[in-house]
Amino acid sequence: MQNSAPLLSALLSATYGTRPVLRECALEVRRGEILGLAGSSGSGKSTLALALLNLLDPRTTRVSGHVHFNGRDLLTLTDSELRAIRGREVALVLQSPAAALNPALRIGTQMREAWRAHQKSDGADAVAEALAAVSLPSDSQFLKRYPSQISTGQGQRVLIAMAILHRPQLLIADEPTSALDAITQIEVLELLSKCNREFGCSVLLISHDLGALATICNRVAVLSEGSIVECGTVDHIFRSPTHAFTRRLTGSALASLRSVDLGCVHDNRA
Ligand SMILES: Nc1ncnc2c1ncn2[C@@H]1O[C@H](COP(=O)(O)OP(=O)(O)O)[C@@H](O)[C@H]1O
Ligand SMILES: [Mg+2]
Repeated sequence: MQNSAPLLSALLSATYGTRPVLRECALEVRRGEILGLAGSSGSGKSTLALALLNLLDPRTTRVSGHVHFNGRDLLTLTDSELRAIRGREVALVLQSPAAALNPALRIGTQMREAWRAHQKSDGADAVAEALAAVSLPSDSQFLKRYPSQISTGQGQRVLIAMAILHRPQLLIADEPTSALDAITQIEVLELLSKCNREFGCSVLLISHDLGALATICNRVAVLSEGSIVECGTVDHIFRSPTHAFTRRLTGSALASLRSVDLGCVHDNRA
């Protein structure tokens, strides 16, 4: 029987110093879905992504609430328990490959290190397979390159290849297309959609770009002033939003989305 309980269910409050950023922010990611997280710049999207993985710095941030993932509360786990989950069960893809990749290490070395973080074998086959899945070469010439010797689009593909190395159940992508040109943006969105379809991983796609979310998401959650004010299917969020902030957010985006056929968005699992 299929497990219908959500893969992840969170209720989070977070404060930087004395400043509240997340306020009882409630988010649920279902198994196998692509959930979009929309919100204006500075609304707390990245803070939420980091909080979900218990990655906020406890010296500067106070976090309360829970992050239930596969029956465990990630906020209560030890560092070593979290390290065993991060990268293996939940993977994070960030906006900038330049910031996320180590400039001093070859691509192949970084891919193999990501593999060995959770496995004892050398992982050459798994690395080649992950690179093939994101349509990158895995020959020694490519593996020997440094991050500065590949394009930003290739860098984002490398990050996604690393993220899917261990076939995580949840992939969190924080503005993965913001640093890319329009054509590469579409390719990366297609790639995330392919990972969702072929590996069955749920995806939390965070973006201020509603067009990107409408293209591949099943549902979209809207973050405003640290709280989720509305969550529903792409159709609901774009065609009949109920919250005033969602209406404002989608209103400005809809003009540029007129050519997108919202009816083609797969909301069968939502
Ligand atoms: N490490 C930090 N220390 C203090 N304030 C921060 C820190 N990171 C983010 N903020 C602030 O918290 C708010 C939410 O930031 P962020 O989560 O990055 O928003 P978003 O990703 O939606 O643009 C912003 O006002 C930002 O300036
Ligand atoms: Mg952000």
